Amino acid sequence: MPVWKVRGGNELSGSARVQGAKNAVLPILAASLVGGGVFRLRNCPRLKDVDASIEILRHLGCAVEREEDAITVNSAGMRDNHIPHALMLKMRSSVMYMGAILARTGEVRLSTPGGCELGSRPIDLHLKALETMGAEVRDAGAEVVCRAPGGRLRGAHVNLDFPSVGATENVMLAACAAEGETVLTNAAREPEIVDLQRCLISAGAEISGAGTPEIHIGAFRPRPETEHRIVPDRIEAATLLCAAASAGGDIELRDLAPAHIDTVCACLRDMGCRIVCGADTVRLRTPKRLRAGRPVITKPYPGFPTDAQALLMAACLRAEGTAVFVENIFESRYRHADELRRLGADIRVEGRVAMVTGVHRLTGAPLTAWDLRGGAALVAAGLAAEGETQVFDAGHIERGYDDLAGKLRSLGADVVREE
Ligand code: EPZ
Repeated sequence: MPVWKVRGGNELSGSARVQGAKNAVLPILAASLVGGGVFRLRNCPRLKDVDASIEILRHLGCAVEREEDAITVNSAGMRDNHIPHALMLKMRSSVMYMGAILARTGEVRLSTPGGCELGSRPIDLHLKALETMGAEVRDAGAEVVCRAPGGRLRGAHVNLDFPSVGATENVMLAACAAEGETVLTNAAREPEIVDLQRCLISAGAEISGAGTPEIHIGAFRPRPETEHRIVPDRIEAATLLCAAASAGGDIELRDLAPAHIDTVCACLRDMGCRIVCGADTVRLRTPKRLRAGRPVITKPYPGFPTDAQALLMAACLRAEGTAVFVENIFESRYRHADELRRLGADIRVEGRVAMVTGVHRLTGAPLTAWDLRGGAALVAAGLAAEGETQVFDAGHIERGYDDLAGKLRSLGADVVREE
């Protein structure tokens, strides 16, 4: 696993382009299986998770070409419906292939995704939703097998006990091939769900309501070719803004949807940052010293995103006062706090609550990345620490960020990646 070496002290300045969204391109790559045609995707980020998805699609028999930011998938040749453990291990969000493979072949076998640093990551909501649509589910512990009796699921009213992003996506994909209309209530409302709907409509699906708690999926008449440009990555945008808040400076992001990070910008303004939003740009300037803002309470979209919790925490480490975080989405998402304390941060964690009291100085230290966003938070904190911070196991960061080290260097940070 690579090590990232961060030397703190440089303010960030300049402009950077935001990548295509990891959490949109992943379900859309799965969606390419449903209709059996060709998907031509643009604005695709270069990520380890995208590489893993391409490996899964090729394993299933699809032809996949990648050139720059474009990925072309031809799923006509799909001949398998089983995702082996080795491929599931590479990316736990492969669970979203369940709905797509079920829609295409009527049966899917996949090794159950393991838990991760964020907690057990169950898939009960996914399985319950598919059973409501008529799927026969055999959850044999290490492997899950879902079958559609007679090869087709039936449209149904599916209500999610929790607005799970992945379960929403699985229902949208499975429902494309179901007999009759599916109405999904208490659906997740994330912008990546809206992007998946846009892509499915281009592919020939009758689908509406994404972005609201109620999504309707009707008939699907697959078009031979589908073109789609991936929505900008709101979490990468939040990451870059929090890194600039942590280091100090004046940066502009471009090619993003400012409305998608309203809650993050509101918290940063609360902390004293000046933020100006254009149509597809956001400019952030930091004050002499940040101050702790309002409590940060993570919620399903449009609430504050859990994926930005660690990043905003990094920006709070030297802010005046005490910042309060409440993590409501994942059962354990504070692993980064242990690491940030090694820099001299004052963080107390009690269950879902973390209290961050600003200190005057942070001192670089060797740290370990435990997960994707926590790892990025260690880098953001290292920008504000005196001396060198080494982030070990930085491969976690590379799962979800397209050359984040290079992007930070282009903004003036001293960040070097070493194998
Ligand atoms: C998606 O994960 C994202 N991943 C996550 O981003 C993001 O943190 C999460 O949504 C919440 O916004 C992708 O889109 C690839 P959930 P997902 O189902 O779909 C529980 C990142 O850093 N749950 O909305 O797995 C679950 O344990 C990643 O980019 C069940 O209990 O999230 C969690 O506590 C991390 N049973 C909560 O719901 C289920 O069947 C939210 O999970 C499913 C989920």
